[in-house]
Amino acid sequence: MDPSRDNLIIRFTTFWWALGTFFIFAVMLAVIWLFNHSDPTTMEDAAAKSRYITKAKIDAAQAANISPEVLDATIPKLAKQLAATKPLAVEQPAQLVPGSDTAKKLASAPAVDTKAIDVSDAAEAPIDPAVMAIGKTQFLVCAACHGQNGEGSPIAPPLAGSEWVKGPISNLIRIQLRGLQGPISVKGTEYNMPGGMAALAYQTDEQIAGVLTYVRNSFGNKASAVKPEQVAALRSEVGKPQVSAAELTKP
Ligand code: HEC
Repeated sequence: MDPSRDNLIIRFTTFWWALGTFFIFAVMLAVIWLFNHSDPTTMEDAAAKSRYITKAKIDAAQAANISPEVLDATIPKLAKQLAATKPLAVEQPAQLVPGSDTAKKLASAPAVDTKAIDVSDAAEAPIDPAVMAIGKTQFLVCAACHGQNGEGSPIAPPLAGSEWVKGPISNLIRIQLRGLQGPISVKGTEYNMPGGMAALAYQTDEQIAGVLTYVRNSFGNKASAVKPEQVAALRSEVGKPQVSAAELTKP
């Protein structure tokens, strides 16, 4: 550098120019940082941010609906109810765990002596109107397939005038407890509906006795009453596959 130009004033001015330029950049960086520092800089951060917002919204909505106290009080109540619930009868053998106690019990269940049940038919005993009333209520389920007056429908054979309905009581109980797989001949017509009839074993002994007494003494049918003890005697059949006409006693 030309020594003639090196004087104090030039040094002084250059110093402040340099300082000023540095300061301007510092201010610019500060402004950029101020407006951008809170925004996510990576994809992960961006994804996490929206997750936090969503979580906050869900937490708020949940808190608004159910208080933690209510939730805390409900859980033991629910657990108690579940613990007190009786397991449903397994009606599909396919649902049984192979080798389980229930499966073994079913496999080794002795064939029930249906003759003893059918022998107790007391043909002329009068029918109890209270039993008929129970049966009429329970019949609503049967009516869905067999018709309001047992006349039959495109999905089930008739109960009115059916030789099976008026025949041995054990047949009717077994059909209800296990369901029925066609083919089955009713009043000279052969029926074999897809899927057959499902078991309706959920009804109590009294209800099953009632509904069977009802169908045996309605729609022009006339036959002896079915007793709850007769139903109870066949309960061990529940869970076996749908009964077939061949397994039943010929009416
Ligand atoms: C989901 C429909 C359905 C319901 C509900 C139903 N059944 Fe059946 N039922 C059938 C079918 C189908 C058959 C014939 C089986 C076949 O075709 O494979 C049948 C056959 C019968 C038979 C022997 C054949 C006859 O017509 O006499 C009796 C008895 C019987 N059902 C009684 C009942 C009783 C009692 C109830 C109510 C507790 C009932 N069913 C409910 C579909 C049903």
